[in-house]
Amino acid sequence: MNDAAGTPVLSARGLRKEHGTGPGLVRAVDGVDLDVGAGETVAITGPSGCGKSTLLHLLGGLERPSGGEVSLNGRRVDGLSEKALARMRRSEVSYVFQSFHLMEELTAVENVELPALLAGRSPRAARRRAQELLDRLGLAGRSGFLPCALSGGQRQRVAIARTLSNEPLVVLADEPTGNLDSAATLDVLQLFEELRAAGQTLVIVTHDARIAASADRTLSMRDGALVDEPWPPGGATGHRGALAGLEG
Ligand SMILES: Nc1ncnc2c1ncn2[C@@H]1O[C@H](COP(=O)(O)OP(=O)(O)O)[C@@H](O)[C@H]1O
Ligand SMILES: [Mg+2]
Repeated sequence: MNDAAGTPVLSARGLRKEHGTGPGLVRAVDGVDLDVGAGETVAITGPSGCGKSTLLHLLGGLERPSGGEVSLNGRRVDGLSEKALARMRRSEVSYVFQSFHLMEELTAVENVELPALLAGRSPRAARRRAQELLDRLGLAGRSGFLPCALSGGQRQRVAIARTLSNEPLVVLADEPTGNLDSAATLDVLQLFEELRAAGQTLVIVTHDARIAASADRTLSMRDGALVDEPWPPGGATGHRGALAGLEG
């Protein structure tokens, strides 16, 4: 399933993001080189403040880099116009946030179909795809529920279903289980495992050792750069197949 030999789905070269100037200068991302192959799941770990969220924002076109390059399927995206960037965010990359970011006044299925509607799909096609996704994620019976009537784990699964609405090239997830209890974390972990099995390319920032262990590769970040030391120090990272040990 991993196609590291082909064109990477996502790549970064010398990627930098600075905030402020002079003595207040913060190098949030400081020279990151990264290639994520088709169908690969990459976990990124590291202490708070090391630049993980900023890196995801740069990769997903939510923030513009101070320097360096980002490419999606071999196409440079760091210099795109605002309009082209917005189009890319609607149709090629998708984002999962720690705090779900569901629209509280929309039902589960309305949340899931929203990106497809914004991308110009017909209402009927968007609804059909949203129902299929909820079905696949074990949420078919919840499609008419408002987010306030869902558990944390169900909310995050709806949020993940929403990111899949447009069949994105890559899903970027920023501490997706940061607000979840252990049982809900397992639900989300299982979901990521299913997405990986289905060939979805994933980049997941996480503090959860189980999520990191289920990835194909785990990268560690320190002070804006990717480094060799694992995080947390001595913690289990980079080992495949964690789910097998968690089932049953
Ligand atoms: N908009 C901003 N303005 C100034 N500094 C920022 C901004 N966003 C992030 N930073 C700083 O950049 C560094 C990396 O932040 P962040 O990417 O959020 O780290 P992480 O997600 O690993 O906790 C931190 O020192 C943070 O304070
Ligand atoms: Mg962060």
